Amino acid sequence: MNNKPSAEIQVQIGKNGPYRVSGGVPLGEEIIAADGGGESVACQHGRTFPLQQQYALCRCGHSSHKPFCDGTHAKVGFDGTETASRAPYREQTKVIRGPAMTLTDAESLCAFGRFYDPNGSVWNLVNGPDRTDREPFVRQTCNCPSGRLVAWDNASGESVEPRYEPSISLVQDPAKECLGPLWLRGGVQLVGAEGFAYEVRNRMTLCRCGASKNKPFCDGAHAAIGFDDQR
Ligand code: FES
Repeated sequence: MNNKPSAEIQVQIGKNGPYRVSGGVPLGEEIIAADGGGESVACQHGRTFPLQQQYALCRCGHSSHKPFCDGTHAKVGFDGTETASRAPYREQTKVIRGPAMTLTDAESLCAFGRFYDPNGSVWNLVNGPDRTDREPFVRQTCNCPSGRLVAWDNASGESVEPRYEPSISLVQDPAKECLGPLWLRGGVQLVGAEGFAYEVRNRMTLCRCGASKNKPFCDGAHAAIGFDDQR
């Protein structure tokens, strides 16, 4: 397990406070686009924020200056205790091995992005024997913002990952009429309030509504509470 912060680019979790971002990580927005049936099919770029070397992002969900922290966490008595498993991703997953591809699935990391279904569910597509199944399987799996779902090529034993530069995006989910998590991409180091270095991953989603029961990760609670800018 990787347990030593190594990168200058990192997100440091404040105890019952914000995410402190350092290293000049670009910040933008990604808006989930749905098809006619309401299934998530892609993300569209929204705003891009001016580049800053350091900034603090709201984690309690109550800032009046979202996405940035304005100190409200102290007034509302935010409890940001990190409750998520710290085991590496592969130790948390169910493994579904198909004829050509394998799916790994860590359900506790689900951020309710709903990218897994538009052309058949990835749990079925992984069992498809040919390329017509492979293409939607890989696309839908790679679209999963949280990295709950990962596709693996049986021939090479390698995972199939989208290429991302280190960046953070604010997810919006118009189909559910709510804001979503922070989307960390490209291997940004996440460090816990007590100094624990979480496994570095290409895709991670962090709770910014304050309601997740799997902090620091998003568990989809933002949809249930109708998280928005007015909170
Ligand atoms: S942002 Fe998804 S649970 Fe808080």
